[in-house]
Amino acid sequence: MTAPLLDSRLPLVAAPMAGGPSTVALARAVASAGAFPFLAGGYKTPDALAAEIEEVRALGVAFGVNLFVPSDDPVDEAAFAAYAEELREEAEAYGLEVDPAHVVDDDRWAEKLALLVEHPVPVVSLTFGLPDPTDIAALRSAGSTVLAVVTTAQEARLARDAGVDGLVVQGPDAGGHSATFDPTRTPEPVDTASLVREIRAAVDLPVVATGGVDGPDAVRRLLDAGAQAVAVGTLLLRTDEAGTSPAHRRALGDPAFSETVLTRAFTGRPARALRNGFVDRHHETGLNAYPAVHHLTRALRQAAGAADDTDRLHLWAGTGWRRAATGPAADVIAHLAERL
Ligand SMILES: Cc1cc2nc3c(=O)[nH]c(=O)nc-3n(C[C@H](O)[C@H](O)[C@H](O)COP(=O)(O)O)c2cc1C
Repeated sequence: MTAPLLDSRLPLVAAPMAGGPSTVALARAVASAGAFPFLAGGYKTPDALAAEIEEVRALGVAFGVNLFVPSDDPVDEAAFAAYAEELREEAEAYGLEVDPAHVVDDDRWAEKLALLVEHPVPVVSLTFGLPDPTDIAALRSAGSTVLAVVTTAQEARLARDAGVDGLVVQGPDAGGHSATFDPTRTPEPVDTASLVREIRAAVDLPVVATGGVDGPDAVRRLLDAGAQAVAVGTLLLRTDEAGTSPAHRRALGDPAFSETVLTRAFTGRPARALRNGFVDRHHETGLNAYPAVHHLTRALRQAAGAADDTDRLHLWAGTGWRRAATGPAADVIAHLAERL
């Protein structure tokens, strides 16, 4: 029997959700309910992340921090300029101009890495690829358990070879960005339990499974497939303690939305969202250029959020979104634990 990867009473994890939903309050609530909490380091300044870490550390519970691994994939500048032009009308609806400058941004990787090496946390998870193996070694030497989020058996092998302690196996039903190391690929449909079995057969590392969980039966299936724990994102989005925007919350409960799609339209990297007008208008042109497209659409999406405009907002959602309940996060965790 291998030692558990994550130190929590239940084999349940609050998945990291950058852009607002993951909060200290959510971490506190899920930890009190027996699940393992994650903070989302993506998009935050190192100072803001450091402050959150100290607040959660003060709770005296084990927790994890998730970081975006930067990549320097080439951007097709002509396609990028054409996309900026295509978005002009969307922006004009809010009196905004699309700034066609191609922003280069590594999410301040080096500073966040230095923060976590100097002030180690129990668990660090890495998404969007792998950093230099020396970065993984530095985190491990500092005392952290390091996890890589993977979406295929090949990525799992690369993560193992880079020296991680465990894997987060993310199925394509997951809400938000796909962690795929190759954002030019559109993750092929596969249920998360099958992916967990395939990766467990290929790589001898402990696995946290995530993606598309819609209730206690799905949790049971993933544990039976060989996962040590199951992480949920979407099912926590409408809870009292999450920092999800009002428009996003409303959309998740609105029966007018009928499906989710994996699209690059909002940020330039495949991400699963509720299908809305923005997806219908731009999914076909959405190009592979993260985070350049993220910055291109950012002001527009912020304006859409402020205007409560669910037609233009990136409404990240996994396939289990219809089961995302309102109320305390502890109730969601208790429900998910029913078949443990
Ligand atoms: C709103 C939102 C934000 C997310 N942000 C992150 C993130 O910052 N880092 C990360 O590794 N995964 C992120 N994810 C993916 C989740 O960690 C997790 O893989 C996913 O939510 C699991 O699928 P589910 O939503 O069907 O439960 C995000 C997902 C959502 C819905």
